[in-house]
Amino acid sequence: MKTSKAFAALGSAAAMMLALSACGSGSDSGSETGGETQTLRLALNQTETHPSYIALDSFGENVSEGTNGAVEVEVYANETLGAQQEAIQLVSDGSVDMAVVSGTQLENLNEDFRVFNLPQVFDSVEHQMKVVGDDAVTGELYSSLEDQKITVIGGFTQGTRSIYNKDRPIQTPSDVDGMKIRVQESDVQLKMIELMGGAPTPMAFGEVYTALQSGVIDGAENNEVSYLTQKHNEVAPYFSNTNHLVGIDYVVINTDAYESMSEEDRAVFDEQWDAAVTEHTDLWVSETEKAHETLEAAGTKFNDVDTEEFQSVLQPLIDEYVTTDSAKKLYEDARAAAE
Ligand code: GCU
Repeated sequence: MKTSKAFAALGSAAAMMLALSACGSGSDSGSETGGETQTLRLALNQTETHPSYIALDSFGENVSEGTNGAVEVEVYANETLGAQQEAIQLVSDGSVDMAVVSGTQLENLNEDFRVFNLPQVFDSVEHQMKVVGDDAVTGELYSSLEDQKITVIGGFTQGTRSIYNKDRPIQTPSDVDGMKIRVQESDVQLKMIELMGGAPTPMAFGEVYTALQSGVIDGAENNEVSYLTQKHNEVAPYFSNTNHLVGIDYVVINTDAYESMSEEDRAVFDEQWDAAVTEHTDLWVSETEKAHETLEAAGTKFNDVDTEEFQSVLQPLIDEYVTTDSAKKLYEDARAAAE
């Protein structure tokens, strides 16, 4: 079966039931103005110490305050409303209102999203945020899933991703040879590890710790913040600075839920979203530094690699995935915004 088809399959019934029972109806009459409160449940797969939780939690407080309690955002951390693959389907069918999903999930719904999931597209977090926050570049992309009732409100950085593993420092792509490396459920990610010579193993984020611990996989790839907040350092102590790509998360909302806000409330929501992106990006920088220090003190073995060797091995991804006119346009716009 083609992987993208497999990934588009609906998530587990268990997660769906959990989400539905957790959600109930989205409205009640608790607002300070005495009107109905629209409560937006947001699915997140990170812990409550992760920058995405912190920024979205204050986003919720600010939206509530700005709308006098007419719109509330409740963030459910730790995959309690389902892993990302389920969460995106639940947002589409309206049983969950919002979710944070990696760009790798959205490439399974519209292939153009692949462009921003590729190595060598973004040079830095700053460059990435300039591109993903530019309506002129992303306007069409972000509204392209509205026929599936998914509106993308914007992006949060995932920072720079690197490979970590249980056994040894990785210095060159050939060190990845034969290693089972967990990837997100995405064609781009599968191909990326294959090009390094590794055996890619797709799985949900929340399953990675146990898979590392039990030896189902040898390693994974992520940023230092998630590596620490998920405690992967406990079971995979070798962190090699491959810096192979700058990843992107998107915050998505059910299109009907978004459109059912009054114009005034939606303006508050949008304005507070912009503030949340700024808070998230600032936090990202400080939390990455802190994570690095904490990890070093806790015994993680960091090593530098020849990043150019990794880049040259991964170069074919651009030719393979930037083929249509719309993908080429996104790629060119992104590169044009580089320093
Ligand atoms: C990052 C990202 C998540 C993603 C995770 C993963 O932590 O922020 O959205 O799910 O990587 O590798 O699955």
